[in-house]
Amino acid sequence: MSEHKVYKLSPVEVSEAWKDRAFIDNETYLKLYAESIEDPDTFWGREAQRIDWIKPFTRVKNTTFAYPDVSIKWFEDGTLNVSANCVDRHLATRGDQTAIIWEPDDPETPAQYITYRELHENVCRLANVLKANGVKRGDRVTIYLPMIPAAAYAMLACARIGAIHSIVFGGFSPDSLAGRVDDCKSAVIITADEGRRGGRSVPLKANADAAANKSGHVEKILVVRHTGGDVPFDPSRDVWLDEAMAAVDADCRPEEMNAEDPLFILYTSGSTGAPKGVVHCTGGYLVYASMTHQHVFDYHEGDVYWCTADVGWVTGHSYIVYGPLANGAISLMFEGVPNYPDASRFWQVVDKHNVNIFYTAPTAIRALMGAGEEYVKTTSRKSLRLLGSVGEPINPEAWEWYYHVIGEMRCPIVDTWWQTETGGILITPLPGATTLKPGSATRPFFGVQPALVDADGKTIEGEGAGNLVILDAWPSMMRTVYGDHKRFVDTYFSAYKGKYFTGDGCRRDADDFYWITGRVDDVINVSGHRMGTAEVESALVAHPKVSEAAAVGFPHDIKGQGIYCYVTLMSGEHEMDALKKELRDWVRNEIGPIAAPDHIQFAPGLPKTRSGKIMRRILRKIAEDEFGNLGDTSTLADPSVVDHLIENRQNRQ
Ligand code: WT7
Repeated sequence: MSEHKVYKLSPVEVSEAWKDRAFIDNETYLKLYAESIEDPDTFWGREAQRIDWIKPFTRVKNTTFAYPDVSIKWFEDGTLNVSANCVDRHLATRGDQTAIIWEPDDPETPAQYITYRELHENVCRLANVLKANGVKRGDRVTIYLPMIPAAAYAMLACARIGAIHSIVFGGFSPDSLAGRVDDCKSAVIITADEGRRGGRSVPLKANADAAANKSGHVEKILVVRHTGGDVPFDPSRDVWLDEAMAAVDADCRPEEMNAEDPLFILYTSGSTGAPKGVVHCTGGYLVYASMTHQHVFDYHEGDVYWCTADVGWVTGHSYIVYGPLANGAISLMFEGVPNYPDASRFWQVVDKHNVNIFYTAPTAIRALMGAGEEYVKTTSRKSLRLLGSVGEPINPEAWEWYYHVIGEMRCPIVDTWWQTETGGILITPLPGATTLKPGSATRPFFGVQPALVDADGKTIEGEGAGNLVILDAWPSMMRTVYGDHKRFVDTYFSAYKGKYFTGDGCRRDADDFYWITGRVDDVINVSGHRMGTAEVESALVAHPKVSEAAAVGFPHDIKGQGIYCYVTLMSGEHEMDALKKELRDWVRNEIGPIAAPDHIQFAPGLPKTRSGKIMRRILRKIAEDEFGNLGDTSTLADPSVVDHLIENRQNRQ
């Protein structure tokens, strides 16, 4: 787009150190991309050799998006173990190399450096503890941990014995945790006494207890001693992990898994209903996570790589643990937050550990940009070579600041578009190969065929805008919704039959570059975290004083999107500010702090069509303070409710 600057990563504009490093230049990208689409069997059959197979596969791709018979299988007769690939196979060559650098929340607490050999021992011991507590191949294990090395041990221990992990972000409430435990019938929760974030403690064990009491499935809670805080402990159900790990064997044979056996479940929000258990499998996922980690971040042996995500999100799964460790990388894991003790923290950690590759979210960049350059300028950041962005569209101003102030025009930025469902990065620049345009995720990765369709499903060719779909399968895509295959097929393949629908809007420019514009469904992206409006609404209507609620997103300077709720009270209830606060806290307790509404507006009536459907378009406009152009309101049952809503709007600019 002409209004945006274009950075060509020619050797003139990037450092000398960069120019000989990149694995892939533009010509190679074009050649390999063409091969990946025209001959996926050859392309992926070759790429799959980057990981170790126990029994080699004979069939590469066996997939169909045909509605309703969607079926995805990659490397289907091959066998392997993910934990052996991420740990054991590195022992001979880099057993004493650091696998994980752990940087704690409190900068005064020493960092930890875990070698691949130590990782091996910890994973094996934890795997043996799981077995001793009755966990078998195929069983689900819920992980509810802070950002500590034990989170990686727990994931890899499950993978080692063929158990399926389901990580629940430590910021989720006991109710959210219980819902996820029950959905996948997980008998074991791995948690910690407490977490630590920004100087505050998070009562993980107490939350896990509350979830276990609510759920009918929990038999064992394995507890990491992290802060040493005094927490409730029920010896008939709870196990201290340090004691249990000391008591078992330091070796554990990795289970031989089929490529299509599930590796993990991760719950994510959609437009309707409760969060879905996205299922990712073993072979295709690992091949793709490993390949994208190497090429998107141009990872070379010895580089220090830092992804700031939490392991509770898919970014942490694929790009803190599985991708980097499959590649024998040095992966930094950070317990804290960007602005504690102050807004220099990220850059101090970069200097402390000589981080070369740094991957974060636009919301963090915007927050730090707001704090001011002085927090950056006191640090060196000379080690940085590449910057990444993920989670939401990055606005060009934030991109420019990241590029100029953080990277000092030395570091390309990879704006990586993907989703929990995709397992790995699908649209992204390749550093050294792709021209960068601030705000564009640029071009598809190998094997990915994006397309744009209009509301009727007609394909849009060339320059234009529409809904983003993917035309064919890639190895790391989700296979199903846990326990509900029909929901998988209906959610992703029914809107545009034969195509995977992403839920995102997108524009393609004259260079065939992609610009993601954000969700087109009822999903809100708050600070890069996905929230279904339906979830917020059902939390609100669960409050005894609420009769009806509608939640919508609105543009927010730091968070990307904020949550705006319209609430109709039960008759006889009074519209008071204290009740707004009560409702806000209520949602926070029901779901977790990330779901707390930014604005609550009492609405005696909601704008509904004569058939009773809430016209969200109008609610979005009022929440955006853009009510001048509400569009057609003639189908409203009672047009006067709109005037009342406008008069009492909460987000005046
Ligand atoms: C949604 C997926 C993928 C890991 C983090 C989020 C938005 C993600 C970008 C980007 C524009 C982006 C999309 C997508 N999104 N990355 N680089 N540019 N939008 O995973 O929670 O599954 O959310 O995040 O809207 O659909 P998720």
